[in-house]
Amino acid sequence: MLRDAHFRAKRDHRGRGVRDLDRTVGGVVADIDARLDHQDVVRVLELGCGYGTALLELRARYGRRVALYGQNRLRNDGDADVLLRNARERNLLDVGTDPAPLPSIVHGDVAAGLPFPDATFDLVYSQVAWLYFGNKVGVVRDVMRVLRDGGVAKIDADDVRTDLPAEYARLVEIWENGTLLPFRDYVRRHGAAFEPAPDGEYLRFGKRQSFGDELEPIVEIDLADLHADWDGIKCVYRLKQPAPDASSAKNDRNT
Ligand SMILES: C[S@@+](CC[C@H](N)C(=O)[O-])C[C@H]1O[C@@H](n2cnc3c(N)ncnc32)[C@H](O)[C@@H]1O
Repeated sequence: MLRDAHFRAKRDHRGRGVRDLDRTVGGVVADIDARLDHQDVVRVLELGCGYGTALLELRARYGRRVALYGQNRLRNDGDADVLLRNARERNLLDVGTDPAPLPSIVHGDVAAGLPFPDATFDLVYSQVAWLYFGNKVGVVRDVMRVLRDGGVAKIDADDVRTDLPAEYARLVEIWENGTLLPFRDYVRRHGAAFEPAPDGEYLRFGKRQSFGDELEPIVEIDLADLHADWDGIKCVYRLKQPAPDASSAKNDRNT
C-alpha cells in the first residue's frame, strides 16, 4: 500500500481532474453528453490516469451511464486502493443513491500495447502522460485499435515543446530521406490532427485500420537521462527505405 506521505506528496502531479482536462484537451464532458444523446452507456479510457480524479468526477456526474477505465504504468502511480483514498478525500465516493462501480485501473506500459480488446472504447483521453510514453507511434496505433467506430481519442500532446532545448523539443521526430517530416504533417496524412486547446494543443484522432506502418523506429531517448529537470521520451523514426539493390550495397560505406 502507498504510504500516506508519498500519496500526498504526489497528489498534485497525479490528481488532475475534469477541469484540467478542459484546459489540456477541451470538453470531455461535452463529448460524453453528445454520445449519450444516442447511446445508453459511453465507454471511456484514460491513459496515465494517476490517482483517477477525472474518472471519479465522471463517475459522480454520469453514474452508470459511463463505463470507466484507467491505465497507469506502475501500481504506485495509482491503483484501486489509491483511487478509493482519493475518492474519499474528494467526497466522490458515495455519490447518489445507487453509486456506479469505481473505475477499473489496469497497470502496464502503454508502449507494450493496451490490454483491451479491439473496438472497446468510445472515448480515450489523456493528460500529462504522453510525454512519458515510449513507442509513441505504436501507442497511437493501439489506441486506434481499441477505439470503436466513431470513437475519438484526445491526447494532451505537443508537436513542439517550448520548455526544452531545440534539440529535444520534438518528442516525435520523423525523417524522410534525410529531411524532417514534422509529426503534425505525418498525422495529418493519416486523418489525425493537432487541435487547439485552451492550454496549447492536443492530438485528436478517430479509429483507423493502420497508422505508422511505413515508419521504422530508430532510437528512443529518455530526456531525464540527459538532465534531471528534463522530462519525456523522445522517439525517433525514419520512413522505411526500399531494400538496397546489390550494386548500391557494394558502394555503401566504403570507408
Ligand atoms: C504525471 S502523472 C499524470 C497523472 C494524471 N494524468 C494527472 O494529470 O494528474 C503521469 C501518469 O502517466 C502514467 N504513465 C507514464 N508513462 C506511462 C507508460 N509508459 N504507460 C502507462 N502509463 C504511463 C503514470 O503511471 C502516471 O499515472
